Amino acid sequence: MSVTSDVERSQESMSARDAAIVEIAARYGVQAQRGKRFAELTSLRVGGAIDWVLLPKTEEEAASVVGALDAARIAWRVLGAGSNVLADDTEHHYVVLSMREVKGEVSFDGERVSVSAGYSLPRLCVETARRGLSGIEGLGGIPGTVGGALWMNAGAYGHEIGTVVETVRIAHGANIVEVAGSEIKWDYRHTSFREGELLLGATLRLRRDDPALIAERMEEAKRKRLASQPHGARSAGCFFKNPPGSGVSTGRIIDEMGMKGEKRGSAVVSPVHANFIVTEGDDARAADALALAEEIRTRIREERGIELEYEVELWRADVAPLREITVPESERSGSQSESLAADREESETGAE
Ligand code: EPU
Repeated sequence: MSVTSDVERSQESMSARDAAIVEIAARYGVQAQRGKRFAELTSLRVGGAIDWVLLPKTEEEAASVVGALDAARIAWRVLGAGSNVLADDTEHHYVVLSMREVKGEVSFDGERVSVSAGYSLPRLCVETARRGLSGIEGLGGIPGTVGGALWMNAGAYGHEIGTVVETVRIAHGANIVEVAGSEIKWDYRHTSFREGELLLGATLRLRRDDPALIAERMEEAKRKRLASQPHGARSAGCFFKNPPGSGVSTGRIIDEMGMKGEKRGSAVVSPVHANFIVTEGDDARAADALALAEEIRTRIREERGIELEYEVELWRADVAPLREITVPESERSGSQSESLAADREESETGAE
């Protein structure tokens, strides 16, 4: 088999894939963008070219689109506000499914609130506080979407979103299933959701409290955040998790090692909070942020014997544009809810 024929074959499969994406976008009336870069779509303002960005507007559209992409074996990843992602500088050949237009309407029913994945988390916190609903006011300043917060079990100032989730709506194949919050593992900045599952929205169960008291707690969290974290800078929040179970802050450790203000090219350890890496300049590079992060990890490993885990998601560019079918045929037509539950059991027992 000659090299040329391999190249030709791969060009053919890419044009077939592109045609399939155009058709899928048209079928569901979803906007498809070319020529975008992660530098435009992430808060760190770094990262390379994206083949396709698809922008559904409703939960149903988003579910239909991923069902069709799965059926066509087209690789995709979900992006919310892009506030916890460090994407490689090179070309990314998978589809980015942007959820930022899936905002929907927030609907209230007593202590319950139903919200779509693309909805702004800070806005949701303000609206629930105004209605005298408590449980997420500590999350008020986290600059992400509800979907992103659910995906990683966002937390701050004594609140974690997972503790108030009653149900989550998930696209599985082209179908929407509703999974109880109690069936999901909500760990520290980690959940049992898996790649290939698209979070569409959730119903939260909050508690009634005096709106003035909730607002006060939200203000207090905001005050602490402004005093201890950089704002206005290009960051992805805390870069590393705190070492589990230690009660130690990674920020404090990096600070104690004298690394605040340390710079590698366009990336800097924030002088305000040492667990924030911020980027500077028009041509900032993910490679600089990653090099600085790895240097921090190496020093902490060598000097403290601690293995730091990334809190930001590293989106590598080496994901193949086409992939093996992730959703078996049987699950696309059969009982979705049952097969998802079976899947979860399998993954929880490590059978995957
Ligand atoms: N500290 C330093 N130097 C620093 C940073 C912190 O000495 O550069 C000290 C502080 O003075 C304080 C202690 O370390 O005594 C803890 O600091 P902080 O209150 O900022 O908490 P953290 O553990 O660094 C965590 C979360 C934040 C969250 C805050 C508030 C992680 C990795 N970080 O930070 O979450 O906002 O608590 O609840 O769990 C994020 O998830 O992106 C994030 C920023």
